[in-house]
Amino acid sequence: MPSILFVCLGNICRSPLAEGALRAEATRLGLELIVDSAGTGDWHAGEPPDERAQAVALRHGVDISALRARQVRLADFRRFTHVIALDHDNLAKLRKLAPADATAELSLLLDHVEGREGQAVADPWFGDAAGFEVTWAEVTAAARKLAARLRL
Ligand code: 4NP
Repeated sequence: MPSILFVCLGNICRSPLAEGALRAEATRLGLELIVDSAGTGDWHAGEPPDERAQAVALRHGVDISALRARQVRLADFRRFTHVIALDHDNLAKLRKLAPADATAELSLLLDHVEGREGQAVADPWFGDAAGFEVTWAEVTAAARKLAARLRL
């Protein structure tokens, strides 16, 4: 079964939104997937998603309130088939961290969306609700593409 880990910096804004979006899309398609998220940093470990992230997901019908932040672990590189970074910094950190026996395919989230290849999902942390809507739109677009690809 495909298993996807989304990774951002704090695991309280972007990656929990990506997790919620992909889980919702998988449910919609009746697709069995393991979906999780983590941060390269550990400052927010154990915390629920940022309230603005919870709010934007809920506005789109997805409840991410039960998620709790955690830091990426070395075992993740073998446990998941796909480890997907939300931006270049976090992708670079993952490449450095990846153990020699890693089996997960590493990629950048927007590389899965035609026309957005090589682009980062901007950190909405310092912005307002409008920024979180942009994040939601981006992770939703990527979740649709990923789910369609994983369904094949
Ligand atoms: P995220 O956003 O990486 O999308 O979860 C951030 C959340 C918190 C911090 C940075 C980014 N922080 O510095 O605490």
